[in-house]
Amino acid sequence: MARSRLERLTGLLEQQMDADLLLDPEVGKELVLFTSLTGREVALFVDRRGRVVDLVVGDAHTVVMMDHDIRRGTRRLAGVRCIHTHPGNSPHLSDVDLSALRQLRLDCMAVIAAAEPHRGSAAYLSPDGESAIETVGPLRYEKLCAFPWRETVRLYEKSASSVETTATGAEKERAFLIGLEETAAGEEPPLEELAQLAETAGAVVVGRMTQRMERPDRATYLGSGKIRELTLALQVTRADLLIVDEELLPAQQRRLESLTGIRVVDRTAVILDIFASRARTREGKLQVELAQLQYLLPRLTGQGQALSRLGGGIGTRGPGETKLETDRRHLRRRMSELEGELNHVRHHRERLRHSRQRSDLPLISMVGYTNAGKSTLSSLLVARFAPLGGPSPAGEDKLFATLDPTTRRIRLPGEQDVLISDTVGFIRKLPHSLVRAFRATLEEIVAADLLLHVVDASHPAAVEQMRTVEAVLAEIGAGEKPVLTVLNKIDRLQPGGMDALLRPPDPWVALSAHTGEGVDGLLEKIARLLPDDRVTVDVLIPYDQGKQIDHLYRIGVVRELTYEAEGVRIRADVPKVYAGALLGRQMTVPEET
Ligand code: GTP
Repeated sequence: MARSRLERLTGLLEQQMDADLLLDPEVGKELVLFTSLTGREVALFVDRRGRVVDLVVGDAHTVVMMDHDIRRGTRRLAGVRCIHTHPGNSPHLSDVDLSALRQLRLDCMAVIAAAEPHRGSAAYLSPDGESAIETVGPLRYEKLCAFPWRETVRLYEKSASSVETTATGAEKERAFLIGLEETAAGEEPPLEELAQLAETAGAVVVGRMTQRMERPDRATYLGSGKIRELTLALQVTRADLLIVDEELLPAQQRRLESLTGIRVVDRTAVILDIFASRARTREGKLQVELAQLQYLLPRLTGQGQALSRLGGGIGTRGPGETKLETDRRHLRRRMSELEGELNHVRHHRERLRHSRQRSDLPLISMVGYTNAGKSTLSSLLVARFAPLGGPSPAGEDKLFATLDPTTRRIRLPGEQDVLISDTVGFIRKLPHSLVRAFRATLEEIVAADLLLHVVDASHPAAVEQMRTVEAVLAEIGAGEKPVLTVLNKIDRLQPGGMDALLRPPDPWVALSAHTGEGVDGLLEKIARLLPDDRVTVDVLIPYDQGKQIDHLYRIGVVRELTYEAEGVRIRADVPKVYAGALLGRQMTVPEET
């Protein structure tokens, strides 16, 4: 019975109705009959010429609203209206119905109660405001079928077209975040870092959802009950992008896309996207493109179709769309081309490194969480402190400027020249493809004489970002380099507004790369910390003063470490300024280098 009803229903597809009516009364009867027999909702989508363009059967509570928006990105309506049934006798539109009207920008949304006398309501976007909705009803069945939907559409589009000309820029993507709940109760709200990443990538976060699970579901990442909840939340929040806090398997991504009806990207894609929009040097751009292709390769199936309907947005920047649409073989060819180009650039970089070593200029590497202000600080230092004649006076330096514009020369007080290099921004759980691609850049950090750890002190998550950078440094084998912490963006702080927990270990400076405040102090500190100003000390640290050992690693280079009866004996090169203090506490004699 239900089966033959279903056949009758599908027979409605492509049927032509009277275009002026909201709903042909005969067609409406088929819908309510189906719902009262099966207990399932059914939704009919009709275009402006009166053709049925889609028909969706749901369960007792929901039908999945398909995205029929054919004019996305403009303030016009979709050109499609939705009429659906409710089992029972409720003639009212639900919040989800209204949210779908808003999200899909439907011409009209109407509901009919399956129980006699089939009363119903209609709703439409109001010409008065961006997302305001007008509802009418409950109405008698015949009145509902004759609802003047054309007139409401005309009024809306007339008002929208006058606003349209003044609308600015592209609308931001509305991202919804999902992830697994961390087992340890974290202090920050769930998915906070992912939210920051999404915002950095240009999206606005409209909702978050987590689930406590041991490990993600292999097919759908979250459990199936949760996915149902998610689909509704996506409609209510009008999200158009779902971001998952971990790297997804390609099949999970496709499954989630088909279940939610919106685009799904994972954490790695967001990070790659940020890197793609920020890569400045030729090498950086090559590295990001390579990492993106490595990420894309296993996900290529079906991507061509998915990508061709995208007009940009997170996960689509970087390599051009046409490149992504090519087949795997083409992709592999491009990857090996990129590797070749990168090798070429790296070869030059190697030669530069050698000549730099020969020139004996100390190298300072700037590290920091993405957006901390490294590039801004680097530009300021070069503008203010480049040796006379511009940033690249010597022949060999010209090469730095052309091939590797992130390495510049500056002059410290006391006439000492140093090279300062900007590096890639750090992020928690840096995707492996990126670590691989940025290997050479990261190796530079390991080769540096001093690291400047730039921190955005005005950021609410500054402490976590600092920890992240320290963790990445340890991961790449630079955890024991001397570090000078630079608390940047102090111009943004209210008096006393620095996070009380933001007490970096000595040595540190606070400044603003924006206004220049505190920058002279930075140069003085650098000058004092550099190897030229170092002495070798030989100290014995009692076993109960383990912190002193950490301190030595932080400020200097430990050459030798032996365990003796009274404590740990360490021979280390440390800045002169610290040698006195060390001597005061320890018993052995420094030895000048
Ligand atoms: P990545 O390339 O992601 O590693 O970023 P970065 O660390 O190089 O940061 P960048 O220099 O691009 O600065 C990020 C943003 O912070 C920019 O909009 C800067 O204008 C701003 N900024 C940097 N320093 C300061 C500062 O001292 N004060 C203020 N108010 N803004 C700053």
